[in-house]
Amino acid sequence: MTTLLHTPIKLGVLHLPNRIIMAPLTRMRAPNSIPTDLMATYYSQRASAGLIISEATPISPQGVGYPATPGIWNQQQVEAWQKITVAVHEQNGRMVLQLWHVGRISHPDFHDGDLPVAPSALAPKGNAITPTGMKPFVTPRALATDEIPGIIENYRQAAKNALAAGFDGVEIHSANGYLLDQFLRDGSNQRTDQYGGSLENRVRLLLEVSAAVIDVCGAERVGIRLSPSGTFNDMADSNPEAIFGYLLTELNRFNLAYLHIVDALDGDIQHGAKVIKLAVLRKAYQGKLIVCGGYDQARAEKTLADNMADAVAFGQLYIANPDLLERFLQHAPLNVPDPNTFYGGDERGYTDYPNLAG
Ligand SMILES: Cc1cc2nc3c(=O)[nH]c(=O)nc-3n(C[C@H](O)[C@H](O)[C@H](O)COP(=O)(O)O)c2cc1C
Repeated sequence: MTTLLHTPIKLGVLHLPNRIIMAPLTRMRAPNSIPTDLMATYYSQRASAGLIISEATPISPQGVGYPATPGIWNQQQVEAWQKITVAVHEQNGRMVLQLWHVGRISHPDFHDGDLPVAPSALAPKGNAITPTGMKPFVTPRALATDEIPGIIENYRQAAKNALAAGFDGVEIHSANGYLLDQFLRDGSNQRTDQYGGSLENRVRLLLEVSAAVIDVCGAERVGIRLSPSGTFNDMADSNPEAIFGYLLTELNRFNLAYLHIVDALDGDIQHGAKVIKLAVLRKAYQGKLIVCGGYDQARAEKTLADNMADAVAFGQLYIANPDLLERFLQHAPLNVPDPNTFYGGDERGYTDYPNLAG
């Protein structure tokens, strides 16, 4: 029996045969920031997804904040990613690259002792994951206004590199407490220049980055990920409905391939998140919407039936079920993901989850 999840949809120029999206998933298996052949196996195993969104991928050395995350700033990385996009396309899949700058969610160990950068010199609570273990976050260095064009240029070049590597498009990562999210929220952005203060000023960097990336790829190949209710990485805002409401109005002008919303997660609710309901976001945004965050098949079907989203992304379920599409089709049992092998390691817990056929 086909389901709403199994019906096709067009996101910009991307023709998806189904609405089951593989969420972006950092797996920390790319030593020296170079994608590997094992990653080609992993992604091509999951090519029956309507769309694969790659793991978050730093746009520059400054944008790195975790060990063994694959980059997209040099030719060696482009050539390594090419093998992955070819492998996915050979399996008739589609794949976009998630463009990432971590901002303050980093550590001097990644930057030859230099401080991580951020909108303001405010340390997040918690620990960085460094190559030699967990270390408390440091107080980052506030970016000077005249450094911002260089960061926008890094996004533009990374988008160019993504197309050269054969990706079908890019997703701008503006969720989960990383650089672009840090600029949106007044808990992390206390700037007094044109990138801080008013709603208009706090969305400026994301809009300028989006314009640069759209200039390279065309809006019909660009998605943006937001987590309006997110508290992960010590995110806070005095009035999330105001900033995200204003942002969505601005994003309506762009005619993006899609907007990707991370729904409030249990952890956010426990951390006292000011939850913005999906219905409010759906109403405010006029384009195609992907939703993600704790969805199973039944909840995803209901969300599509209620017209609250156009497609649903699955994170943990895709880690453990390369053939998630087929399992949903057959209402078959699902493999259970093992959190011990989420980050780092080898093929175990990565490319060895079995398909239904075994
Ligand atoms: C191991 C792991 C790695 C993740 N890496 C990323 C990432 O690189 N970029 C991102 O935007 N979200 C990342 N997320 C968040 C997921 O994309 C997703 O929003 C989250 O897991 C909730 O969806 P789920 O309940 O279907 O897993 C990650 C989540 C997990 C569990």
